[in-house]
Amino acid sequence: MDIHFTLNGEPVRWEVAPGETLLEALRAHSFYGVKDGCSTGDCGACAVIVDGNPRNSCVMFAFQVQGRTVLTIEGIGNPDKLHPIQQAFLDLGAAQCGYCTPGMIVTAKALLDRVPDPTPDQIREALSSTLCRCTGYVKPAEAVMQAAKVLKGDGHGAKNPR
Ligand code: FES
Ligand code: FES
Repeated sequence: MDIHFTLNGEPVRWEVAPGETLLEALRAHSFYGVKDGCSTGDCGACAVIVDGNPRNSCVMFAFQVQGRTVLTIEGIGNPDKLHPIQQAFLDLGAAQCGYCTPGMIVTAKALLDRVPDPTPDQIREALSSTLCRCTGYVKPAEAVMQAAKVLKGDGHGAKNPR
């Protein structure tokens, strides 16, 4: 079946199978930033933003995004122009293996779009939907707080650049 939707700001038309998940469709179209960690909706590595809300793409059928707006990590920033959340993760060393990092950043973006001045508890709650097997959540939470300051215009880069 054909689906039409907006992906990272561009209109796209894809042919997908009825049982194909959004995760499978995205990776089949080379959106490899969307990770497959569990395929069961438990780890958040496959998170994307659908109509402004973080969703685990492994538990959505691709056809469900017909007519909707999808944002993946590839649409948030790129190596030449990192999003402030990506820059903060980099500056604060908030990633180790990086497998969960796209999901964390996507989830953080959805939070900051909705709540520009989040409390530490709101950040921790948002990040708790992503399982990180390498590290804790202290540095990612600090990075999201730092990014929130930058996005509001009262931050001047990392607290602990390296
Ligand atoms: S791969 Fe989708 S939640 Fe784990
Ligand atoms: S940095 Fe490795 S799983 Fe989170």
